[in-house]
Amino acid sequence: MGEAPTKGILDAESLGQVLAHMREGFQVIGSDWRYLFVNDEVCRQGRQPAEALLGRTMMEVYPGIDATPLFGRLSRCMRERVADEFENEFTHVDGTREWFEVRVQPVAVGISVLTLDVSVRKSLELQLRHSQKMEAIGRLAGGVAHDFNNILTAISTFAGFAAERVASDKQASEDLSEVLRAASRAGELVKQLLAFSRRQPITPKVLSLDELVARVVTMLGRIVGETIELEFRPSAALWPVRIDPGAFEQVLVNLAVNARDAMPRGGRLTIETGNVVLDQNHRMAKGGEVEPGDYVMLAMTDEGSGMDETTMALLFEPFFTTKPFGRGTGLGLSTCYGIVRQAGGHIWVYSEVGRGSTFKIYLPRVRETPLAISEGGAPAASIVGRETVLVVEDDAQVREIVVRVLSGLGYRVLAAPDGDVALQLREQHGAIDLLLTDVVMPRISGRELATRLQWVQPGLKVLFMSGYSEDAIVHHGVLEPGIELLPKPFTPKALAQRVRDVLDGKRAP
Ligand SMILES: Nc1ncnc2c1ncn2[C@@H]1O[C@H](COP(=O)(O)OP(=O)(O)OP(=O)(O)O)[C@@H](O)[C@H]1O
Ligand SMILES: [Mg+2]
Repeated sequence: MGEAPTKGILDAESLGQVLAHMREGFQVIGSDWRYLFVNDEVCRQGRQPAEALLGRTMMEVYPGIDATPLFGRLSRCMRERVADEFENEFTHVDGTREWFEVRVQPVAVGISVLTLDVSVRKSLELQLRHSQKMEAIGRLAGGVAHDFNNILTAISTFAGFAAERVASDKQASEDLSEVLRAASRAGELVKQLLAFSRRQPITPKVLSLDELVARVVTMLGRIVGETIELEFRPSAALWPVRIDPGAFEQVLVNLAVNARDAMPRGGRLTIETGNVVLDQNHRMAKGGEVEPGDYVMLAMTDEGSGMDETTMALLFEPFFTTKPFGRGTGLGLSTCYGIVRQAGGHIWVYSEVGRGSTFKIYLPRVRETPLAISEGGAPAASIVGRETVLVVEDDAQVREIVVRVLSGLGYRVLAAPDGDVALQLREQHGAIDLLLTDVVMPRISGRELATRLQWVQPGLKVLFMSGYSEDAIVHHGVLEPGIELLPKPFTPKALAQRVRDVLDGKRAP
């Protein structure tokens, strides 16, 4: 029997139990580097069962460990018999890495080691440091860009004046136009820096990302070229977001250009969108940077070269580029970062070397009706409206289209899948301006619904949508007076026009 413990009256077996199950990793390593004791947590941390450790040396279990800084610290403790305490990043066999806080203590048989898994805290620290660094660079870039803008304005103005003066001197004129060209190139750079530092003047609008992407997808296709297959997968019923459409197009273009550069031999580029709810877990995972809530996500995925960790860590910094001199300025992604952050969103990247990359943009959902973005900016004045329209349609897809088109034009839209819900909605909401309803529906027909609603709201305007001409609303091929019909299938334009006409009291042509 060995010496009794100096303190405590616990027997050795109970003490062993306590050590085996404590939350910290606890191990005893003999002076010949053999594992003499390991508790459950050590096995979990090292991903090894106790049998694989006990009686074997560290070098047998983890070949190559004697070349690591960790082993250096442990040997010093073993040799010099002094306690030590440090943080260590441990690389598992599969290449994943975790951070541990390590406390080493010399003991009679060798050393005892206490280990705490601090990976979560460590990654939060790294994230925080990273976002602080981005903030600082942003301020610096913004400050420089701002002053630089003034200087450039002076350069181009005075060069312009001088050019007028020396118009007769061919050589001097040519030199001055070089100066002006250089100044305008510098102006472009400054604009990108301002975008990164979120100081770019913007005009945000409430809109649907799907519509915005749909509008530029052809142009993106041309940018990436024919060897790359561009696929756009819009999602149904995307929530609206608030962003400057021009700035966001810039983001799409920059991402597409990078994807193209990453796939010199071609491949597939996919743009997807979706509604997502980010919760507290995402907040933690992203260093507390993310407000939990509803977001609209846009993902751009390529099958290109992918990136290593070093590149991923520096990616969004201005002037970081891996492209040969003259090919890239390294401002593409920093511009994207600035634009997305200015819109209150986030941009993250997932990548594997040789496999490709995905850039994900999250923009906060807004609870306003999106503006329709048509080619010419605002939709034609004659088809927009602010009235309240009750849409009743049992086909979810058709209902969705109608709702999107009308909300996009500025209407307040109440949507119901059937007559019962429609009656409830009318009751909750009060007076409406137009009932837009399907004719053939389960339980209550469109015709009956119209009659019941017109009874509570005399004079209510009604527009039927129908694919059948001989429905209840048509008698002997003639529409009843006061009844308007929009034949299915219809185009968004036809829908918009008929709704406007009926509201304005114009009859069908
Ligand atoms: N889709 C991608 N696949 C692989 N690497 C990428 C991808 N996107 C960006 N990168 C890497 O990130 C770096 C920075 O990208 P960024 O767009 O900021 O600058 P750039 O493309 O090098 O230059 P610029 O966009 O100013 O012409 C790139 O040089 C490249 O190494
Ligand atoms: Mg780029």
